[in-house]
Amino acid sequence: MAYSEKVMDHFANPRNVGEMKDFSGVGEVGNPKCGDIMRMYIKVEGDVITDVSFMTFGCGAAIATSSMATELIKGKPISEALKLTNKAVMEALDGLPPVKVHCSVLAEQAIKAAVSDYYKRIGVDPEPIVGAIPECEECGCSI
Ligand code: FES
Repeated sequence: MAYSEKVMDHFANPRNVGEMKDFSGVGEVGNPKCGDIMRMYIKVEGDVITDVSFMTFGCGAAIATSSMATELIKGKPISEALKLTNKAVMEALDGLPPVKVHCSVLAEQAIKAAVSDYYKRIGVDPEPIVGAIPECEECGCSI
């Protein structure tokens, strides 16, 4: 299985890794296929995601897609971040091997989960804006 240079770069040197203390929203999602977990923190000012960081307990493809996803949504309005698909993240990485496509779904879901959490914290129902976030089938938790 061959990974693109961009995937290898983001895996070896992931951007925006780590815990964020003063976050506006945090979301955690799990991949039911493998049990890997991704947590995404966002800082929101106005309606712009001014900062984002992630922690991924998962495979190299999950780390690379999280890293690229954070780069793609940093400095963007929430509405744009919510439109980011796993396909767009994969394209930005010059593709993933077919067996690793499911790994890229985590990043898309983690962004939605973090935005949902942000809206809940400011007293706004996230469902009409963000839609339903699939629950982690491994343990039944929804954060
Ligand atoms: Fe679990 Fe890639 S194998 S996210």
